[in-house]
Amino acid sequence: MNVAVVGATGAVGETIVQVLRERKVPVERLGLFASRARDGVQETSTEALEPFDTVFFAGSDETSSQFAPPILERGGVVIDNSSTYRMRSDVPLVVPEINAQAIQPQHRLFPVGNCTAIILCVALAPVRDAAGLRSVNVATYQAVSGAGRAPLEEFDAGKGPFVGNVVPQIGEFDESGYSGEETKVRDETRKILDLPVLPLYATTVRVPVRTAHSEAVFFETERDTTVEELSRAFEGAPGVVFHPTGIVTPRDVEGTDEVHVARLRSAGDDKRHFQMWVVGDQLRKGAATNAVQILELLIARGVRPSTRLGRPSTSRFAKGETLRSG
Ligand SMILES: NC(=O)c1ccc[n+]([C@@H]2O[C@H](COP(=O)([O-])OP(=O)(O)OC[C@H]3O[C@@H](n4cnc5c(N)ncnc54)[C@H](OP(=O)(O)O)[C@@H]3O)[C@@H](O)[C@H]2O)c1
Repeated sequence: MNVAVVGATGAVGETIVQVLRERKVPVERLGLFASRARDGVQETSTEALEPFDTVFFAGSDETSSQFAPPILERGGVVIDNSSTYRMRSDVPLVVPEINAQAIQPQHRLFPVGNCTAIILCVALAPVRDAAGLRSVNVATYQAVSGAGRAPLEEFDAGKGPFVGNVVPQIGEFDESGYSGEETKVRDETRKILDLPVLPLYATTVRVPVRTAHSEAVFFETERDTTVEELSRAFEGAPGVVFHPTGIVTPRDVEGTDEVHVARLRSAGDDKRHFQMWVVGDQLRKGAATNAVQILELLIARGVRPSTRLGRPSTSRFAKGETLRSG
């Protein structure tokens, strides 16, 4: 398998390279790409990406729009961390712990969801499965590295808008007053959880934390349930670390792949309103780890993407279904 990472010098791209190595994904050739060439990194172009059958994108929306289509046309696999393709009805938005079954043999394009939405969904899926979900209200406390490498470097130098501050705007506001991040969290959570009309209200806030997003979640269930029943659901949930007592903070989870759930409590007498505190490393589970997990799923299913020549690469993929069309 010949793998490229576009945006390899950025916060997410660098983490993808690290996670590929940690998880020992069978990569024969790894190409690193960015907007310009430097040590070990090539400038991105359609031609330079031709030898690669599987390409991770961790650049801007424009980067993905420009360079992903030729890769897909030749039968390659694209795993894209930008928001460009997430809400397209013909592509799955996969969080492997939740909806791996959304992947069909013809799929070659795999957007990775918004980091806040992924972390929220991993925590909400056990609730959905145990008692149904009627509504969700979430306030977020999002790390500076979520804005990318440049704002993080500025923050580390003691400069910029996030030092000693909280900023209740991530993305542009629309005419209804919601920010771009808030809209993504709502729409993508609905898609990942397969609850297309779930009432979900988000307030997303940048806080002076380097890495890992926190979320204060208030949810209403469809059926009566208890803290005990929900605790059991969290304890058995893939990708979740449940803290029945105590707290968990961003610093505790930096560098880990699980979503942490703490402070689960009843928020009323009707057995349907609850609150919880959720924390996850957004560069890992919220982006890079989720992206690499998607590739691992494809490998397990025997998917064989192709290079420019239209042939499957010499790969260690098992025999099985193929993602190549026609
Ligand atoms: N940060 C997060 O926590 C997070 C989480 C989930 C999703 N995302 C998404 O992941 C993507 C990357 O985010 P990031 O935070 O890693 O950003 P970042 O730190 O600013 O890095 C951006 C990367 O993209 C490269 N790039 C920019 N324009 C390019 C072009 N025209 N051609 C090729 N490469 C180009 C940059 O290369 P140069 O170094 O040459 O400029 C850099 O490697 C974004 O779409 C973001 O929304 C981010």
